[in-house]
Amino acid sequence: MKKKVVASLLCVAMGMTTIIGSTAVFAEEAEATEEAAVDLEGVDLENTKIGISIYQFADNFMTLYRTELVRYLTEDLGFNADNIVVQDGKNDQAEQTNQINNFITDQVDVMILNLVQSSSAPQVTDMCNEAGIPVVYINRQPDETESDRWAADGIKATYVGADARQSGTFQGEEILETANGGDINGDGKVSYIMVQGDPENIDAQYRTEYSVKALTDAGVEVEELLLQRGDWDQAKGQQIVQDALTQYGEQVEVVFCNNDAMALGALQAIQAAGRVINEDIYLVGVDALTDAVQNIVDGNFTGTVFNDHFSQAQTAANMAVKYLKGEDVDPVNMVDYVKVTADNAAEILEKIK
Ligand code: BGC
Repeated sequence: MKKKVVASLLCVAMGMTTIIGSTAVFAEEAEATEEAAVDLEGVDLENTKIGISIYQFADNFMTLYRTELVRYLTEDLGFNADNIVVQDGKNDQAEQTNQINNFITDQVDVMILNLVQSSSAPQVTDMCNEAGIPVVYINRQPDETESDRWAADGIKATYVGADARQSGTFQGEEILETANGGDINGDGKVSYIMVQGDPENIDAQYRTEYSVKALTDAGVEVEELLLQRGDWDQAKGQQIVQDALTQYGEQVEVVFCNNDAMALGALQAIQAAGRVINEDIYLVGVDALTDAVQNIVDGNFTGTVFNDHFSQAQTAANMAVKYLKGEDVDPVNMVDYVKVTADNAAEILEKIK
């Protein structure tokens, strides 16, 4: 586990938007810097209160993220688990705002927040700022005017995430790298359906745009048969793809899903329709959930993109530590995605299991 700590911490002082170059699970070579990286001196590990709210516990990816965040804070950094409160926002911003108000009443020392609606960041930031509590936003990126405001006004708020343009581009590249570049029927264009996450979320917007852009940038003609929101949800993904296959049948060459949960639903619909992945249809997701990566190994998924929850969780915790130490934090901190295809799926599986 210790190795995973390191790469997250290499990002700390590299400018306004920090890109963490090496993914934590691949960071074996960085071990030597570990001492300097995890500097907890002066932090009251026993008594520090940390308030965490996750937009929805039912989300598969955020469950992995939340588990790693709590594990890292308690096991690797040594915070007292009794003082770490993790709330379920239940996909309801009003409910989550109440939780944040309670954290303020309880005088937590720092918050780590996965907002239900990133558009509520200005209001939440002001609440926390007035109470003198620093906040680390994760996973759902507030818009740039908001993070610019934190920097300009010296507000103790920061975002830790991954640039979803990169994940979208990787999805498109995975299709380009197939034997026929996604044009299974050879009609000179790639006909696809797009299953989108919650469109309020920048990850959904960017993955939708950049996956297709990778194809068009390569000079490939595309045809969008359907774009529909599946809200990151497996059952919705299954229903959307089932209906799309009924309506468009053999015309569907590629199924893009903004995340793996929806892609796993899509796979159920694809198999029920008697279609064969990588032969008469391609399927790509994002996150690298274990089931998705296993499906790549088994030939039932074309590809996914590793959304590095280890690095993101650890970086978020490290930013919280910096605030506790009174240090400055960059407003935006980004972790790299990793492309996952049949070429490296077995190796990735070992690392995420
Ligand atoms: C993940 C999704 C997840 C969403 C939650 C995205 O980055 O890819 O699986 O549902 O975050 O906000």
